[in-house]
Amino acid sequence: MVLPSDVSRFVRAAGPEHTDVQARMAAFADEHDFPSIGAEAGAVLRLLARLTDAETVFEFGSGFGYSASWFLRGGADRVVLTEFDADELDAGREFLSDAGLADRCVFEHGDAMETVERYDGPFDVVLVDHQKQRYRDAFDAVREKLPVGGVVVADNVMAGPVDFDALLAHLEGDADAVDADDEFSRGVADYLDAVRDADGFETAAVPVGEGLAVTTKTE
Ligand SMILES: C[S@@+](CC[C@H](N)C(=O)[O-])C[C@H]1O[C@@H](n2cnc3c(N)ncnc32)[C@H](O)[C@@H]1O
Repeated sequence: MVLPSDVSRFVRAAGPEHTDVQARMAAFADEHDFPSIGAEAGAVLRLLARLTDAETVFEFGSGFGYSASWFLRGGADRVVLTEFDADELDAGREFLSDAGLADRCVFEHGDAMETVERYDGPFDVVLVDHQKQRYRDAFDAVREKLPVGGVVVADNVMAGPVDFDALLAHLEGDADAVDADDEFSRGVADYLDAVRDADGFETAAVPVGEGLAVTTKTE
């Protein structure tokens, strides 16, 4: 959590309750110490699907479908889930079938960076939540596949396997702040530089969960 705990509790309490299946997914994540996006960020994913009237959502790194379940709750017509762990993807298929949502899902086993090449888009919303050192490549792979108004959201830009203080110093102009050996923070720093510098895109950091960077295409 990057927020003071009272603020996190407030965000959680003001936000949506889990459905029964999402509650089971959250328990499964706890049991397996799996880094799901969490309910506070999930509510933002639901909102983004709703605001974009999403027809297609593409996820880089879906785990067992928890983040996808939030996009689907936001009315997304179709979510493409990518995952290179077959067991996780199978668990996702089962959870989302139990929730009656699997018919709006495409389950893609394999490397998300290869899977995305088989899709022309348009993607109304993209979630970047796979290997941090490949975040920037993911943005490059989808930027031409977004309509104006499309959104790319990246998780873990403030917490998780990244160094918050080093990333803050980087964003404030210290080019040497992120340790070259810290590949996760390095990956997120490169990603934030790319989306901030990209012509025709606007980015806001949203401090929920482990920190989201929300980028929208403006032209
Ligand atoms: C942080 S978890 C994703 C959690 C999920 N988005 C959620 O919030 O429910 C990252 C997942 O991405 C998968 N992953 C990492 N790199 C990947 C890649 N290149 N292609 C496919 N899956 C990948 C991992 O196996 C892991 O399950």
